[in-house]
Amino acid sequence: MPQNRDGSFLSDSMKELLGPGVGQISFERMQELNRLMSYYRCAMMEVVTKFNVLNEQFSLQFDRNPITGIKSRLKTLPSILEKLERRGYPFSLESIEENLNDVAGVRVICSFREDVRMLSEALMQQDDIILIERKDYIRNPKPNGYRSLHMIVSVPIFLAHEKKYMRVEIQLRTLAMDFWATLEHQLRYKKDFDFASDMEKELFTCAHLSAELDERMDGLRQLMQQQNEQAASAPGEKPLRWTDQSHNLR
Ligand code: GTP
Ligand code: MG
Repeated sequence: MPQNRDGSFLSDSMKELLGPGVGQISFERMQELNRLMSYYRCAMMEVVTKFNVLNEQFSLQFDRNPITGIKSRLKTLPSILEKLERRGYPFSLESIEENLNDVAGVRVICSFREDVRMLSEALMQQDDIILIERKDYIRNPKPNGYRSLHMIVSVPIFLAHEKKYMRVEIQLRTLAMDFWATLEHQLRYKKDFDFASDMEKELFTCAHLSAELDERMDGLRQLMQQQNEQAASAPGEKPLRWTDQSHNLR
């Protein structure tokens, strides 16, 4: 670990965040920081649970899982400090809460585009969730082709003596969108590699292909749904839901 000239291991921004004076990092501040990060962790768990519950509920109703995976992450302290610095915000705990929306992040990978819409709507119908910001990069992709639905929400966590609202960034995307975004991120941030404009064009084409794939898969899903509905409405041919479920349990 690199050591600073004054003999400490902390960067200047870290010192400013944790307390005044070199080598006088206040123990209380450190505890406050740990507490804040733990609140973000709780809010993140809260959101993950909400999506797991929705997945469970929809899989019972439609006999398939709308969610194929959920990832969550807490921003590391160095990357929190880097973002505060880049945006010109003060280094303080209050500033983190006030200015950063993505300390806690939850990414929900869905089977179909329709699932993204349905899940985001179902989440927003929950009366304890407050929507702070919504960016629909599926309807309006970024110029490089990036697609996902981003939401910043405020979610309550219940502490021993109070209820506290914490912000969480949620990204909802399909498998195809995730495939593209993951590889694009890998390529773009590869060290010592010059990202040529030819590659940008190729990636944009790939984004277009992934969007087409989603569209065609959604077409198949609609067909399947229509057939299921027809079968369900045919007299005497109601699907045996419990049998379906017990089959899944085997
Ligand atoms: P930052 O959080 O500082 O990036 O700014 P912002 O909140 O205005 O950005 P935005 O909501 O558009 O995107 C935030 C997150 O979405 C990023 O941290 C990435 O996880 C993801 N993201 C956005 N654009 C891209 C992209 O072009 N490619 C990939 N792979 N991911 C992206
Ligand atoms: Mg962000």
